Amino acid sequence: MRQGSQNFRLLWSATLVALAACTAQPTPPPPAAAPTKEASKASVRKEPFGATKEGTAVELYTLTNASGMEVRAMTYGGIIVSLRVPDKTGALGDVVLGYDSLDGYLKASPYFGAIIGRYGNRIARGRFKLDGKEYKLAANNGPNALHGGVKGFDKVVWKAESFQDGRGVGIVFTYTSADGEEGYPGKLDAKVTYALADDNSLGFEYQAATDKPTPVNLTQHSYFNLAGDGSGDILAQELMMKASRFTPVDKTLIPTGELKSVEATPFDFRTATAIGARIEAKDQQIEFGPGYDHNWVLDREEGGGLQLAARLHDPASGRVMEIKTTEPGLQFYSGNFLDGTITGKGGHVYKRHAGLCLETQHYPDSPNKPAFPSTVLNPGEEYHSHTVYTFSVQKP
Ligand code: GLA
Repeated sequence: MRQGSQNFRLLWSATLVALAACTAQPTPPPPAAAPTKEASKASVRKEPFGATKEGTAVELYTLTNASGMEVRAMTYGGIIVSLRVPDKTGALGDVVLGYDSLDGYLKASPYFGAIIGRYGNRIARGRFKLDGKEYKLAANNGPNALHGGVKGFDKVVWKAESFQDGRGVGIVFTYTSADGEEGYPGKLDAKVTYALADDNSLGFEYQAATDKPTPVNLTQHSYFNLAGDGSGDILAQELMMKASRFTPVDKTLIPTGELKSVEATPFDFRTATAIGARIEAKDQQIEFGPGYDHNWVLDREEGGGLQLAARLHDPASGRVMEIKTTEPGLQFYSGNFLDGTITGKGGHVYKRHAGLCLETQHYPDSPNKPAFPSTVLNPGEEYHSHTVYTFSVQKP
C-alpha cells in the first residue's frame, strides 16, 4: 500500500509536471496560419524624431525587410533619412546623403531625400495659365519656381501610418494641401506610399485628388551615392538611362521645348557610361548645368505601367540600383550645387557630385509647354504615379 501510494504520488507529480509543461508552451498554430520565415523577419518600427520650429512632433519610421535592407523615413517631408543596402560582400552601407538628426533638415537642406510637390522641378518665371486664368508662384530659384515653392511638400509634416502586408513593409504618408497654398489652385489630397519588399525593392506610389484643376508632378529627391554616403564623388559610377532624347534648357534651366536626340552628345546614356566621363565636355547644355541637371525623355513601350528607366552601378562596391517607373521623364541631377558648405551625416562634408538624384517626373515647365504631356489634374480624376528602385549587386 505504501509502495502503491508512493507510486501514485510519483505518477501524480509527473502528471502535474507534464500539465505545467503543456500550459507553459502555447500550442503552435497550424502550419497554414504560421507566418513565413521571411515575413517574421521583416519589421516596422516608429519612434519620435523631434519637432519642427512650430512644435509639431515628427516621427521616424524604420522599415526592415527579411534580407536586412533598412529604410528610415520621417514624417517631415516624407524624407528618407537613411537607406542601407548590401554591397558585393553583403555588408550594409547607407547609400543616401542627409543629416543624422531633424535639426539639419530644418536648417538647410537641398531637398535631401524628400517628397517633392505640388510641382517637381521648375515652372518658368513662377507663372502659368489654366483655363484662361494666370497663377503666380514664388520665384524661389532665380526667376523661376522650383519644387513646389517656399514651403513645398518637402517641408510639411505628413500624417503617416505603417503597414506590413503582401507589398512588404511600408508607410502611407498623407497630406492635404489647401486651395491656394504656394499659389496653386485647388485643395489637393496627396497620398504617397513607400513599400519595402523582400527582394530589396523600394516602391513609391503617388496618388492625389483635387477639387479644382491644378498642375501636379510628384517625385522623390533622394541623393544617392552607391559607394556609400560620405565616400567621395559619384563620378566613377556608371549610369544607363533608357532615353534617346532629352529636354535641353536655357541658362535658367527651363526647357526650350525641344526634344533633342542624345546621339553624339554627352547626354547619351543608352549604354552604361561613367558619370564623370563627359561631365566636363565642352557643350553648352553641360555648361548650363553646370554638369547634368536635365530631364531625359524616357523611351517607353506602348501600354503604360512600370517600365525600366535607368540603372546605376558602382563598380567598387558592386551595388546596383535599377529604376522602373510609370512616368515619361527622368531628371538626372549630378549634385552640381553641392559645394562643401553642408556637413551631413557622420560629419561628412558634401562636395560637388557627392551624390546624384534620379527623379521620375513629367517634364519641367509642363504647365507652360502645351506640347509636353499634360500635368493638369482635374476634379474627379485620380493622379497616379508609381516608381520602384530595386537594389542588387553585380559581381565583376
Ligand atoms: C533638382 C533641380 C536642380 C536642383 C536640385 C536641388 O534636381 O533640377 O537644379 O535645384 O533639384 O538642389
